[in-house]
Amino acid sequence: MLEYRDGGLAVECMPLAAIAERVGTPVYVYSAAAFISRYRQFESGLAGLDHMICYAMKANSNQAVLRLLAGIGAGFDCVSGGEVARAVAAGAPGERIVFSGVGKSRTEMRSALDAGVRLINVESEPELAALNEVALASGRTAAVAVRVNPDVDARTHSKISTGRAVNKFGVPMSRVRDVYRQAADMAGISVVGLDMHIGSQLTSLAPFEEAFRKAAGMVTELRADGHTIDRLDLGGGLGIAYGDETEALPTPADYCRLLRRSVGHLGCEIEIEPGRYIAADAGVLLTSVLYVKQGEDRTFVVVDAAMNDLPRPAIYNSWHDVLPVSEPAAGSGLRPVDIVGPVCESSDTFARQRPLPPVAAGDLLVFRSAGAYGAVMASEYNTRPLAPETLVQGDRFAVVRNRPDVQAIIARDRVPEWL
Ligand code: LLP
Repeated sequence: MLEYRDGGLAVECMPLAAIAERVGTPVYVYSAAAFISRYRQFESGLAGLDHMICYAMKANSNQAVLRLLAGIGAGFDCVSGGEVARAVAAGAPGERIVFSGVGKSRTEMRSALDAGVRLINVESEPELAALNEVALASGRTAAVAVRVNPDVDARTHSKISTGRAVNKFGVPMSRVRDVYRQAADMAGISVVGLDMHIGSQLTSLAPFEEAFRKAAGMVTELRADGHTIDRLDLGGGLGIAYGDETEALPTPADYCRLLRRSVGHLGCEIEIEPGRYIAADAGVLLTSVLYVKQGEDRTFVVVDAAMNDLPRPAIYNSWHDVLPVSEPAAGSGLRPVDIVGPVCESSDTFARQRPLPPVAAGDLLVFRSAGAYGAVMASEYNTRPLAPETLVQGDRFAVVRNRPDVQAIIARDRVPEWL
């Protein structure tokens, strides 16, 4: 989806330089074709198995992206009332919406029930009791799966690992049967399945294998206890190659093969919640070089994107490949630079000592693999307006979120009359 054409980087058939000229920088650029093809890799991996792919919209919840995926049959995994509302606004039927998350408020539960969501993944006994009350009060029954914490090490960054006993997520294996017993006695709750999600950016299948095996064992136990477990939600987590990996990563095909082998025999409808794999490589953050600045012992390339636009490097020390939009001349060589943004703290650093072809003020660069957990995690820190988002399809593009006006940002604040 990203390649040099006629000397300049293009997303699909759209030159990035043209987008920069029309919309300015920094700007997110997404490829419709890339979203679709990544989604379809899971579709073909699970073909023939009763399944639903619930795109984890936390990765990228722009309405245009959701509409695109809803249009090809995707379901949605939501983790807040706001996300449920976004999925509904994009045209997703409640039947294709799953509501997950460790701390759903009663208001959020109520609106999810009103939206007719397909499943609510419950993470604790008190949350289950609250959901029962909300369901009874609204005259509805909540279709529920309990999220199990399998105590499996996902071997990913500690901040995005969710399946170990020390993590806040899910119900410990030792208490799961008891929670299902409680749920079975609640008139507002209808138990339909089991849920699990062990972490994000997994670069090996081994932790999935261990978790899926535990899930399968638990389904068998719960069925023996008399519960109806027709759905198995296995979460998301398949990692992508950001560019600094040393080994080949598993593909959706590998992941789906493992899934069939470990849980295919249970006869459950399988739900998966991939976010990053579908969105990350469907987007780049396009930025301009403001200055090339010589430090005491290193060169700083100061760009107009910052940690508020793409916070992943600052939060997780994560790697994003950086490419110049103008194709470097053959033999132009590489030299190590620090790529930094304008925000007033040293964590506003995208890359340290990264080999880059020579760049000058005014040049355009892209950060790759920024379609997931990029725009959605952006903030207005330093009163920097959120970077706009654009979507390319073929040789056309549209602005799918505008760059906010600074005056409008200021106008959101209210100064009390007594000041
Ligand atoms: N399902 C649940 C319940 C989740 O908590 C998550 C991600 C997913 C699915 C999707 O996982 P994925 O397929 O995207 O790995 N901001 C971090 C990632 C946080 C992931 C949180 N949960 C980052 O930028 O790396």
